Parts: sequence; C-alpha cells; structure tokens
Amino acid sequence: MFQNQQITEDIFYVGVNDRQKHKFENMIPLPVGVSYNAYLIMDQKTALIDTVDISMGDIFIDKIQSQLQGRTLDYLIINHMEPDHSGSIRLIRKYYPDLVIVGNSKTISMLDGFYGVENNTKEIKDGEILSLGTHKLQFHFTPMVHWPETMMTFDQKSKVLFSGDAFGSFGTLDGTVMDTNMNIDRYWDEMIRYYANIVGKYGAAVQKALQKLTPLDFDIICSTHGPVWKEYISEVVDMYDQLSRYEGNEGVVVVYGSMYGFTELMAETVAQGLSQGGIKDIIIHNVSKTDSSYILRDIFKYRGLVVGSPTYSNELYPEVESLLRKIEIRGVKNRIFGYFGSFTWAGAAVKRLSTFVETMKWETAEISVEEKQGLKEINYQACLELGRQVAKMVKKPIERKEHCG
Ligand code: FEO
Repeated sequence: MFQNQQITEDIFYVGVNDRQKHKFENMIPLPVGVSYNAYLIMDQKTALIDTVDISMGDIFIDKIQSQLQGRTLDYLIINHMEPDHSGSIRLIRKYYPDLVIVGNSKTISMLDGFYGVENNTKEIKDGEILSLGTHKLQFHFTPMVHWPETMMTFDQKSKVLFSGDAFGSFGTLDGTVMDTNMNIDRYWDEMIRYYANIVGKYGAAVQKALQKLTPLDFDIICSTHGPVWKEYISEVVDMYDQLSRYEGNEGVVVVYGSMYGFTELMAETVAQGLSQGGIKDIIIHNVSKTDSSYILRDIFKYRGLVVGSPTYSNELYPEVESLLRKIEIRGVKNRIFGYFGSFTWAGAAVKRLSTFVETMKWETAEISVEEKQGLKEINYQACLELGRQVAKMVKKPIERKEHCG
C-alpha cells in the first residue's frame, strides 16, 4: 500500500513520524514531534539501515513489506542501539527470521543485553565493506556520537552517508523527507536544540567524526532524525563543526530565577547594560517558565551567558541549580559568564554561582552583583555595568585554534 519516498534510484525512506510522544527520552519536549528515520536499500541483497521506536513498529513493518513486495530482507545494519532506533529489532526478526544483523562488537553486545538477540549477527570492523551487489557499504566507527557503539555507514555507489544521530533534528517530516522539497527554516532551531540536549556533551567525539568523514565525499546525508540532507549539506556540517567546538555566535543569554520579581528586575537591568554595550542578540529566559532544553539550545548558540538567582533556603534557587547541573553535565566550553543574585536575610546564591563558574573554567566578568531585598540605585548601576562588561568581552574577536576538513 505504501509508496515509500525515494532517496536515490534504489534507496527508500521507511521511517516514521511520532506526533504522540510528549517528551524525548522522557525529558525533552517535542512540540513539533520527531521522526525516526530508517532506510531500505534494494539490491541483489536487501538491507535495512536502522529500525524505529517500537511504538511505531506496526506501520514500520507495513512500509518495509510494501517495498520488498515479497522479497526477503537480508541484512539489518545497526548504526546506533539507542531504543528509538533499535526498538523494533525483535519485531522485525519475527517477520524475517533469517535476517543477519550487522554491527560492531559493542553493538553485538548491546543486542544481547537489551533484547536477548544472540544469533544471526555479523560483527564488522572499522572500515570493513559489505557488498549488497552493486552497493558497497563501508562502516565507519564514530564512538560517542552519541553512544559508544555508534557508527556510520557509507554507500560507495550512491555516495549516501547513513549518519545515525549526527546531523539529526527534532521535528516531523511532513509530506516529504528531502531538504530539496521543503522549506527547511523551521528545522534550524530544532536541530540546535537536538544537538545541545542529545549530543552536546560529546563535542570532542563529533570533531573526531567530522575529521574522519571529510575524505568520504558524500552527496546525501541520511540521519536518524529530521530531513535527509542534500542541498544543505555544507550548512549542516558547518553547524555541527561550530557547535562541537562550543563556538557561540555574538549574543548573550540572560537566565534568571525569581519568585517575586526582584531578581527579574536585575536581569532586565543587566540586559539593558548588554544593549548599551552593543549586543544585539539578547535572549532573556525565566528559568521557571522556559523548558531547559530551549535554554540549553540558546546557551549553545550564543557566546555569552549571565545567570541570576535568588537565595532559597540558604541555597541557589532550585530551578537555577537544576539548569546549572545540565550545563555541567554537557561540559559546555568557552562561554563568557556573568552572574548576580538577591537575598532576603542571608546570601548564598552568588557564592554558589561563583563556584559554578570556577568548575566550568569560563572567562568571567570582574563585577558580580548581590542585592539584599529590593534593587537600590547602587546595584542598579552595578547591573548595568555587569551587562556592559559582559558585552565587551563577548564582542572581543575569538581565535580559532584549529579547523577540520
Ligand atoms: Fe536517536 Fe541516540 O538516538
């Protein structure tokens, strides 16, 4: 029944859209959904690249059967074992019991660990080639983009790179899958949000992978989430290069927690100082209102970050503390930092913000501001100055240490 979308003459998209799940990994909101991409290569042998989340297993099987038209499925290539891609392995095995599952040693171990699948597997080495007939699939191990077993598969015939999570994006594929047939503007921010939240910790691994991929000369990127990239390959690769270097654009994110508006007023004042310092991209987030996945997206996007927090039970405001942990976990590098806070009878927030930035080893504004109760003239001026100082540091040209590709 299904007319699967064609990527090349004999490569077909058999992935699915998920508009039902509220949160990816049960943490990250999906207001525009997500796609789980899988691809079928029709040659003398047939090969499926990755599967989909088990919640969409039924429709996935229908799509594969529509394409195979009674032929058998010879190989399943597993680029990544996270269950949003490996979830339908057992199901597909029921339909195609002779299927050979292809992966590296870590993949094979996880196949057993997650699903108890031990037989009909083929372990491949880095750089090894599997022939399907005219298509020769070469495997390139790219550990930690996003898990240790992660690899990419390059089809030498059609110059298609099946890249796993790399170059992926949140957002469903509505009516088409190729970037050449759609307005891709709506994906850019979702791609950065995806990167910041899912891959963000693994910048060094992404850099290594980019260097490894450079000689491959691919024409199409088939990721496991979001559009198939053909027209915008250089933009997408450049974006990954920049994000994985933790190179932010000229701009500043101001994040604050505030219970009764006193710290919020300080945030507004810092932002005014940033503007006086010539910053045009100033993004203010109320940490209690904006989901942290969007705040992290903007932290990856911009070079400057200013955080403000009230003292809460002699600690940092818990919502701010939670955000700081998420930044620490991702090991975000090379940010320009400023901080401020308020308290009612004893201050603790500003001290905790100073220990946070010591851990992160970021360049920090000399001035920080701590106010007792309502904002007074002296600290109003100090907040303006904090903004101006951060602006000056952000506007200083940065040196690029190296470049891959
Ligand atoms: Fe889309 Fe790391 O799984």
